[in-house]
Amino acid sequence: MTNDTEFKAWRVQEQDGEYIGSEQTLHVSDLPENDVLIRVSHSSLNYKDALSASGNKGVTRNFPHTPGIDAAGEVVEASAGPFSPGDKVLVTGYDLGMNTDGGFGEYIRVPAGWCVSMPRDWDARTAMIYGTAGLTAGLCVQKLLTMGAAPEQGKVAVSGASGAVGSVAVELLANLGFEVVGISGKQDHADALKNLGASEVLGRDALAAEKKPLLKPAFANAVDTVGGGPLAELLKQIHPGGSVSCCGLVAGPQLETTVLPFILRGNNLLGVDSVEIPLAQKQAVWDKFSGDWACKKTEASARDIGRGELDSALRAFLKGESSGKIVLDHSM
Ligand SMILES: NC(=O)c1ccc[n+]([C@@H]2O[C@H](COP(=O)([O-])OP(=O)(O)OC[C@H]3O[C@@H](n4cnc5c(N)ncnc54)[C@H](OP(=O)(O)O)[C@@H]3O)[C@@H](O)[C@H]2O)c1
Repeated sequence: MTNDTEFKAWRVQEQDGEYIGSEQTLHVSDLPENDVLIRVSHSSLNYKDALSASGNKGVTRNFPHTPGIDAAGEVVEASAGPFSPGDKVLVTGYDLGMNTDGGFGEYIRVPAGWCVSMPRDWDARTAMIYGTAGLTAGLCVQKLLTMGAAPEQGKVAVSGASGAVGSVAVELLANLGFEVVGISGKQDHADALKNLGASEVLGRDALAAEKKPLLKPAFANAVDTVGGGPLAELLKQIHPGGSVSCCGLVAGPQLETTVLPFILRGNNLLGVDSVEIPLAQKQAVWDKFSGDWACKKTEASARDIGRGELDSALRAFLKGESSGKIVLDHSM
């Protein structure tokens, strides 16, 4: 391995105000100086990658840029930290794929403090089936459990249920014994959600705007991956004492609500960040997914793509048309 070593990356360039992604040849010397050089075999597709690839400056300030907020592979060189060449690692979040070249390239160079040892019995592909989306779903469910959520309390709703985060949340909650209600705009995806363990699938009209500040409680707890108006409506429908984990904004970042769910029903709105949390918290969730929390149906239904399919797959995220988990395999 020398600085002249060439590798392939799916790189986004700005041309006359348009953002265009294509395969490029880079050199290891093009990567930023840092502790650990990793040969990436797999990455995972996330909504945030679609934002980066479309030139969203809140995610990525400077172009050309290699997106990919998740990466898994093998350490090639390590100048700091506990890692040695040959170690299997995964990296999610922090600045990876935002303003640091990410997992859509065959190599990344990152701080040792971003790297997690691959859980025993997992390979890179399995780790990337979960990726940031799976980690986020796990953190959402963990927060509900910490607040005392239990299956006997009643139904748990998952909004954006067919998405990357939502689909893992559906399967994990069902595996833990909860009665899961998926809320999805994709009518043709109802069977797939039921196969993951949802007992019922409602359309997005279940969270359509209502004038009343509180509605009849329909769900004991919920995982919300969409934010905006649907989250405001979900908060009106939670049983007394119930909680909503909130992680996303595909329906918008604004949240217009009243204090009534909080002061009359004692509801809790639980924020979830999977990006900047301490590495040990990420490792704890990975260890669960590689053990008791394994989502075998998600693992079996994940779709693999090569770099040549990234453009269309990322566009589907921006249109809300993506579903399930998509893994980027650099060998395809
Ligand atoms: N906080 C964190 O650390 C963290 C980590 C990962 C992701 N996120 C955020 O979580 C959200 C979901 O991410 P993802 O990777 O799961 O994205 P995704 O795969 O695109 O899933 C989002 C789903 O939301 C639904 N949806 C899309 N547009 C909508 C709209 N306008 N109104 C209502 N529902 C809509 C769709 O599901 P249906 O068709 O089934 O309704 C879509 O599949 C994103 O906002 C992402 O940025 C946050």
